[in-house]
Amino acid sequence: MGDETQQALSALLHERRRFGPPEELAARANAQPGIYDEAAADRLGWWAAQAAQLQWDEPWSEVLSWHLPDARWFVGGKLNVAVNCVDRHVAAGHGDRVAFHWEGEPGDRLTISYAELQRLVCKAANALTELGVREDDKVAIYMPMIPETVVAMLACARLGAPHVVVFGGFSAESLRGRILDCEATTVITADGGFRRGAASALKPAVDEALEQCPAVSRVLVVRRTGQATGWTEGRDHWWHEVVNRQPETHQARSFDAEHVLYIMYTSGTTAKPKGIFHTSGGYLTHVTATHRLIFDIKPENDVFWTAADIGWVTGHSYIVYGPLANGTTSVIYEGTPDTPTRERWWEIIERYQVTILYTAPTTIRTFMKWGDDLPGRHDLSSLRLLGSVGEPINPEAWMWYRAHIGGDRCPIVDTWWQTETGGVMISPLPGITATKPGAAMRPFPGVEAEVVDNEGKAVGNGEGGYLVLSSPWPGMLRGIWGDPARFAETYWSRFPGSYFAGDGAKKDEDGDLWLLGRVDDVMNVSGHRISTTEVEHALVDHPAVAEAAVVGASDPTTVQAIVAFVTVKGGVDESGGVGVEELREHVAAVIGPIAKPRQILLTPELPKTRSGKIMRRLLRDVAENRDLGDVTTLLDPTVVNAIRERMGAGAGEDD
Ligand code: PRX
Repeated sequence: MGDETQQALSALLHERRRFGPPEELAARANAQPGIYDEAAADRLGWWAAQAAQLQWDEPWSEVLSWHLPDARWFVGGKLNVAVNCVDRHVAAGHGDRVAFHWEGEPGDRLTISYAELQRLVCKAANALTELGVREDDKVAIYMPMIPETVVAMLACARLGAPHVVVFGGFSAESLRGRILDCEATTVITADGGFRRGAASALKPAVDEALEQCPAVSRVLVVRRTGQATGWTEGRDHWWHEVVNRQPETHQARSFDAEHVLYIMYTSGTTAKPKGIFHTSGGYLTHVTATHRLIFDIKPENDVFWTAADIGWVTGHSYIVYGPLANGTTSVIYEGTPDTPTRERWWEIIERYQVTILYTAPTTIRTFMKWGDDLPGRHDLSSLRLLGSVGEPINPEAWMWYRAHIGGDRCPIVDTWWQTETGGVMISPLPGITATKPGAAMRPFPGVEAEVVDNEGKAVGNGEGGYLVLSSPWPGMLRGIWGDPARFAETYWSRFPGSYFAGDGAKKDEDGDLWLLGRVDDVMNVSGHRISTTEVEHALVDHPAVAEAAVVGASDPTTVQAIVAFVTVKGGVDESGGVGVEELREHVAAVIGPIAKPRQILLTPELPKTRSGKIMRRLLRDVAENRDLGDVTTLLDPTVVNAIRERMGAGAGEDD
């Protein structure tokens, strides 16, 4: 553990506040205190009982088949994920229940019942079939936050065609890389979406990406903004033309529990994003059980709002699959929290009487900066439970969330998980746990987690180390698309027998868990996972750049900020005038605007060890203006001082 982590550890050690569950919630909670013992006594039996709450067309013969690192859950079982999320509720007489209150950024609204959702999904499944999409075809979805995005995902699930949702903020190049890696044959997109009060185009990026994706033979385009778009005859089809004329019913087939449901690309420690894939039965079991128990879902009363983008795993698991499988009413909001005013979220909560809000600490800290009076002007009394995800939540933000959004009455569930885990793994249970500000507390029932030292030995209470998951869980990734060796190496080789999460964690005196952030080269910027190597590759891709080193520097709002140190060909002074802004734009073009460095420093040299390794730790210290400590392994210690001087002088800074 580095100095920084040690400091974080000792600060957390002094946190003594506890918040017991409200009595009324505890009395009626879905998760009652016996649940941990029950799950521990028969782990597989407990998960099987969770799975049994879904609708299976054929039963499984074995709960788990485990040959490390290959897990198969509910072996031989068959189900249709979309039927479980939609048709099942209509058949049970809940067709009139609202599935989604959707709110577009410009203020347009749509309320969709489960019966309507069923018709929409059936039509879309028929449309995809007409266009030639078959079981196992990969469908890339590059969309804004509109109802058609959910419909498209469910239509794919219904057909057994794995979807590959690519966040709309990624560049054409990122989209192309993902399409090629998974060999997608179909793209679903929109002309554009609304962001910060303006229409923002998406289709041009698809057109650009597809110039080098010959296998994509069809593109379905939703009309959202009305922007003019390029059109390739024979390949491009308007969603409304093809989907609207389809029949409203569709006969769904059932698929194997291990049929691939989706692929989601995420950043690892190398430049190439990993295609994490999830399968049907185990994933749906995991997200449904965690959603029901952690968010204490009462489908007939609750209005649930995951304020995240569907383009990330949080949206997949807790906007789409978990909430729908539980027959929940959810809110989907297209835009940003500050459009048209900084009170947009509080208006939405009032309008739809939201009872449960789930968001990221970055957003909470932004609201803190905007001031207490904004939420204070609104009636937020419908809220009964709050959730946090994506980064460690600092006690100050936790307390603010509790007081100013939760009215000091709503429990907070700080949920730790990853794209790879599919669903929440560590979290309080709201009717049971006495929470501590900033702690994710305990593994979910049926989940086994541990904090270990360098040798893989469990640490004692009061100590820190690496978070591992000691046994397989239903929602776990089944692999990295097309790269089983990387799957085994990345997750299963560091601590043999256990899954290495890449996060640091601490067990406090009570044995409760506190997450401390990544221990690898993955940055967490506003809850977005970005690889330092990927940004370095994007920079080196620019013709003027010789070498680049990227670090994640602590940032009070975004957790980490991307800081790049760059040497240019021919030296700083003969750089041919390459500007910092040009390099930032280049990164945005290669990866997407979310990966733009906050700061780029042009420097004559990078600090290297005698064996030629760039010393990123030192660069992080420089970026965070810390004492440099031991520099004896440096090839040329004067390099660091030169960089520090340039940094201090603001050379090459942009913001
Ligand atoms: O570092 C952890 C952090 O987010 C990483 C996973 O990122 P991603 O796959 O994009 O999924 C984000 C949403 C599930 C983790 O390795 N992380 C996520 N939740 C928490 C967290 N760190 C601390 N506390 C959390 N509650």
